[in-house]
Amino acid sequence: MHEDRIRLPALMDKVMTAADAARLFRNGMTVGMSGFTRAGDAKALPLALVERARSEPLALTLITGASLGSDSDGLMANAGVVARRLPFQSDAALRRKINSGEVMFIDQHLSETAEQLRGGSLKPVDIAVIEAVAINADGGIVPTMSVGNSASFAEQAKQVIIEINLSAPLALEGLHDIYLPAQRPDRAPIPLTRTGQRIGTSTIHIDPARIAAIVITDSPDSPSNVLPPDAETQAIAGHIVAFLEAEVAAGRMGPELLPLQAGIGTIANAVLHGLTGSSFRNLSMYSEVLQDSAIALLDSGQLAMASASSITLSASMHERFLRNIERYRDRIVLRPQEISNHPELVKRLGVIALNTALEFDIYGNVNSTHVGGTHMMNGIGGSGDFARNGQLSFFVSKSVAKDGAISSVVPMAPHVDHTEHDVDVLVTEWGLADLRGLAPRERAPLIIERCAHPDYRAQLRAYLDEALPRGGQTPHVLEKAYSWHARYREHGTMRELWQCR
Ligand code: COA
Repeated sequence: MHEDRIRLPALMDKVMTAADAARLFRNGMTVGMSGFTRAGDAKALPLALVERARSEPLALTLITGASLGSDSDGLMANAGVVARRLPFQSDAALRRKINSGEVMFIDQHLSETAEQLRGGSLKPVDIAVIEAVAINADGGIVPTMSVGNSASFAEQAKQVIIEINLSAPLALEGLHDIYLPAQRPDRAPIPLTRTGQRIGTSTIHIDPARIAAIVITDSPDSPSNVLPPDAETQAIAGHIVAFLEAEVAAGRMGPELLPLQAGIGTIANAVLHGLTGSSFRNLSMYSEVLQDSAIALLDSGQLAMASASSITLSASMHERFLRNIERYRDRIVLRPQEISNHPELVKRLGVIALNTALEFDIYGNVNSTHVGGTHMMNGIGGSGDFARNGQLSFFVSKSVAKDGAISSVVPMAPHVDHTEHDVDVLVTEWGLADLRGLAPRERAPLIIERCAHPDYRAQLRAYLDEALPRGGQTPHVLEKAYSWHARYREHGTMRELWQCR
């Protein structure tokens, strides 16, 4: 049975239930699981591990590509299966465990995990669990809707468990391009100079003798949970399109722009959707996730080529994509996240990076991860890989959150993921601040007048007026710099009390 999926007959006797495969795990092990922004994650083993942890201690270090679907992260966190987690997550239950200090979360640039495993600065992976379309006769593993860190896990793990997902069509074969950099020193440059170029193999190669178990599943990926575009995200998209049109008119880039990267979440997805109505043609993407918006751009013919590490779609788009893979096959390449996010390549290609901020300050420092400066939201993901190394780095945000009680433009960001040095353009629904070539004292008034919500502009101006006479390259009123966050915590609003009367 499943000979079309398990093409090496010698592996047939490795087929077992998830419960049996879960017996291979030992308390304290480091486990690498496939899965990147809900795509291509192992579906059965997380549940089997939760079950096993009911009867005996099983606390693991869990490394993935990025976030898992199927509520796996939350279920494993609540069962105590996850003691340490890296490099990214976006699950509400796991987030609670992280913020209560029960789970140690190592928030990493997504390009770095594989390098740290390779270099030995992280404990090596004991068991890899990888979702696959099929295992080839030569032992090559065909990944499903993401590659993530799977190739690195498979390369290192003592034992590999494959979940063959029957709901992943065989037509996915050939979409992937697996290339891993060699050990240092004497590593050669990564030979990729165009977004759609294939530089590796279409499967993950391992010695089949290390395949310890094969589990058959048939659950599809969890659908993406991003919300559709709204008036504010459309306004943000409009500002970005107008800005890029001006860049083309000024001769700084051609009408096909430079390769685009768009971050995760509702806002980034909506911004990319905004490009479908634009005049740009022959676009390319060098990104980490392809959301619905990327498929819409492929459908409209405006996007010529898309390179990423995963495809995370809404349920209807997912179904449409799988039904029509042939239409996309020559225009999509899925790579290890080390390659999709590699600084060398992001810089070489001159990527236009579009990522989302929770908040930013009047000088352009961006917080993408820490709510209120202390509590983890999701993680930095790939935003730093792209923002630091791209040719043009946008950060977008709605100007307010929580019905206006929070301003996304604040005097000083209480946690900084992207410093002013890595941020070129800030955008909210009110407008766009082009910070290129500006000193902090020039940036602040622009950010306040272009990006802040009108309800908060007077407060921000008052802060800046008080800060400037104190002097400095980046003037601040240090005793008040975080007073907005403290006020929100105490009074449920960042508005100064005179504003509330
Ligand atoms: N303070 C507190 N909460 C805030 C906030 C702020 N300044 N700004 C936004 N929020 C809240 C929103 O109210 C919303 O809360 P809810 O889930 O309770 O409704 C939540 O944060 C998400 O905000 P939303 O406006 O829906 O944006 P999003 O879905 O686009 O996500 C990020 C925004 C920043 C959380 C998300 O993009 C992220 O995790 N980024 C970091 C990783 C990354 O950029 N990866 C991409 C690399 S490819």
